[in-house]
Order: sequence, then structure tokens, then C-alpha cells
Amino acid sequence: MKTILKAKNVTKTYGKKGSAAYTAIRDLSFSMKEGEFIGIMGPSGSGKTTLLNMVATLDPLTNGEITIDGIVVSSKTENQLADFRSQKLGFIFQDFNLLENMTVFENVALPLSLQNKAVKTIQSRVHQVAGVLGIRDIIEKYPEELSGGQKQRTAIVRALIHEPALLLADEPTGALDSKNAAILLDTLAELNRNQQVSVLMVTHDPRSASYCSRLLFINDGQLDRELFQTGTREEFHQEILAVLGDLERRPVAGVRI
Ligand SMILES: Nc1ncnc2c1ncn2[C@@H]1O[C@H](COP(=O)(O)OP(=O)(O)OP(=O)(O)O)[C@@H](O)[C@H]1O
Ligand SMILES: [Mg+2]
Repeated sequence: MKTILKAKNVTKTYGKKGSAAYTAIRDLSFSMKEGEFIGIMGPSGSGKTTLLNMVATLDPLTNGEITIDGIVVSSKTENQLADFRSQKLGFIFQDFNLLENMTVFENVALPLSLQNKAVKTIQSRVHQVAGVLGIRDIIEKYPEELSGGQKQRTAIVRALIHEPALLLADEPTGALDSKNAAILLDTLAELNRNQQVSVLMVTHDPRSASYCSRLLFINDGQLDRELFQTGTREEFHQEILAVLGDLERRPVAGVRI
């Protein structure tokens, strides 16, 4: 199976070299095969969002290389990246980021409108994906008229409408109650299984993480360990809790440059 994402010796230092510099990700490498559902876990401040933002091409690397779908994104210009993002990546944010003055249709069509697709193409694609996620009935509504679950399904449709090579999510269940969180994760897992959508998701929630096929534990800006789901989801959940407990008992790392 092809490699969809490769991070090679990635380092991110915020601020100027010197007293104010802070290395949030240090010499981190991993790769992801097409169709994997990977979770990124780790304590608060360990560098999860920093890593995801670099993969999302929203934040430049200090060192190293990131390749997505065969393209070395870390050496592209900002203009090239805007095109790349709108074609190859899908995003789900914690608060879903729907545009309030646009209808559901306009919100989910946005990634295709940005690519200047023909109106007919946009309509048929929206109709198709909206059907899969059950939002056809609400397509003319505005975000403020939607329930939490409907907002969340709208956000997923928007993230998938342009068939991205990679779907990125940072704490997508953060704003949801446990029932809606389960629906979102079931949907992601199903899309991953049935349509081979590659998903990279940051989460601090062990139950959300148990839906993933593989987990990367980041500690202090470095890859601490990996965990593969081999048994049931409940068994995986227990394994995750054990690893998190183990990481928490570690002494806090000293000052870094
Ligand atoms: N723009 C920035 N400038 C300077 N330091 C930053 C910046 N963004 C993040 N950091 C620092 O980098 C480290 C990693 O931050 P990051 O947001 O990646 O953590 P996280 O693992 O996502 O944490 P959380 O679970 O709380 O979301 C933190 O110590 C943070 O203070
Ligand atoms: Mg974060």
C-alpha cells in the first residue's frame, strides 16, 4: 500500500535561537500508509497541535521534511501550498468552523468553489456526499439553525467533499457530548474502513483514540511509542489508559533549547 504521509526528522523551534527559543517538536519521524486511521496522543504541551499544523502545511518546519501523497510540501512556497491544501487536505476543527452567513450547501461546497469547479459538478458531488452523511434535508439551513450533531456532519461533509488525500482533525470531539462524540468517531471510522480515507487525528481522549488503528504517543516533542489496535476497541481503550498512566508517572523533562 502506498505511503500517504512521511515526516522525516521534523523539528519545530518557536522563536529565535537563544533564550526565547522553544523546541516543540524535535527530530520526529513517522510515516502513514494510505487508509490508516492514526491518532496522535500525549500530554498537554507535548507538541501534538504543532505537529498537525506542520502536516497541514499551516506552519513551516524548522528542520526536516514532510511528504504528502508524493509531494515534498516542506519545500513549497506559500502560493503553491494554498493550492495543495485546497486539493489534497481536509480539515475538521474542534469547533467545526462553519461560516455563519452561509447555508449548509454553501459551507460544504466551499472547497469545490475555491477550486473553481463547475456548478453542476459541485451540485452533484454535494448531493452525493450529503446523502452519505444524512444532511440533504438541512442543506438550505444556516449553521445557527442546526443541532450539534448536524453541524458536525456538515463539517465532515465539507472536509471530504473534494476527496482529500488526507483528512486532518485536531480534537474533533472536544466540543461534543459523549453521544455526539461517538457518532462522529463512528462516522470517521466507517469512512476510513469503507472508503479508505486516511485520517490523522489529534486527541487527548482515550475513548476517541480507541477508534484509531494506530496511535503515536508524543512526549516532550518526540515520538515516545506507537500502539497498534490488535484486539477489540475496549481492549485498545484499556491499553491506551495504561500507556497514558505510564507517561504521566515520568519525571518532567528539564529545560530545553
Ligand atoms: N506560536 C507559538 N510560539 C511559541 N511557543 C509555542 C507556540 N505554539 C505552541 N508553542 C509551545 O509549544 C509547545 C507545544 O504546543 P502544542 O500546542 O503543540 O501542544 P499540544 O500537545 O497540542 O497541547 P494541548 O494538548 O494542550 O493542545 C507548548 O509548550 C507551547 O507553549
Ligand atoms: Mg493542541
